[in-house]
Amino acid sequence: MTKTVLITGCSSGIGRATAQVLAKNGFEVYATARRTESIADLEADGCKTLALDVTSEESMAAAVAAIPQGIDALVNNAGIQEVGAIESVPMDRVRGLFETNVFGPVRLTQLVLPQMRERRAGTIVTVGSMNGKFTWPGTGYYCGTKHALEAISDALRYETRPFGVKTVLVEPGFVKTPLGKTAVGRRVQEPGPYASFNDEVAEVTSSYTTGALGMLACSAEAVGETILKALTSDKPRARYRVAPSAGLFMSLRKVLPDAGFDALLRSQMPKPKP
Ligand code: NAI
Repeated sequence: MTKTVLITGCSSGIGRATAQVLAKNGFEVYATARRTESIADLEADGCKTLALDVTSEESMAAAVAAIPQGIDALVNNAGIQEVGAIESVPMDRVRGLFETNVFGPVRLTQLVLPQMRERRAGTIVTVGSMNGKFTWPGTGYYCGTKHALEAISDALRYETRPFGVKTVLVEPGFVKTPLGKTAVGRRVQEPGPYASFNDEVAEVTSSYTTGALGMLACSAEAVGETILKALTSDKPRARYRVAPSAGLFMSLRKVLPDAGFDALLRSQMPKPKP
């Protein structure tokens, strides 16, 4: 039987690649984005397209209602990154970040779960990050949203299992997508004690997928293939790491004490200069 999947954030990167990979492998894919013009070309790959803004209740409810045959799998992918030291990021931007990265996927999951519970079948896939397990200085709020997804996904997996609904968290490392560059482009550039630190973090953030670090990155398609693996498995894992960087940095964080990991970061990352 053809499985219907709803994916958020398909205008670029992982969402777009996942839509293409799943459509090629026989899924009925509802690719979504805030502006449907940005995903119109995915129709040529066999996807159906819908408008969906994860910060709008109305938009999320309308997208779910537009799939009357029901949703077998939800891929919570849409997300944004925010560059800036904790003290320097204005609270409206912090709230906006959590709105997109945490409250959006959580609310969409709530909207899709009733039909999955009723059918005693379904899968919720959330794209977290290796940053759900450790934090880069200068993008602490982004890492905070990914830590939140780890906790929420763990609770959800336990709570939905009796209803036959599976919950999967994907933890990519560096992925070759526009995420970092978009964050750098829209960052707050205010003078102040963290101005040079924020600039240097921006530079590092835009270099994760190029040069030497690029060797530790993977393609958006590789994440799409991992999501395919999770959706076609009878017993999907709770977590899937993707990209060599995820294995490396998550293992280092696990074995090093806080002081050791901080020292490693200090040797590699920019520092605020009082
Ligand atoms: P991307 O910037 O190419 O894709 C993010 C997508 O989310 C874009 O299409 C954007 O338009 C969409 N989006 C943003 N706000 C939205 C909203 N309010 N409603 C609906 N869509 C919205 O970047 P990428 O890398 O493909 O990001 C996808 C997910 O992967 C994100 O959750 C990100 O945090 C996660 N991730 C990315 C990594 C990377 O290195 N690129 C590493 C680990 C996780």
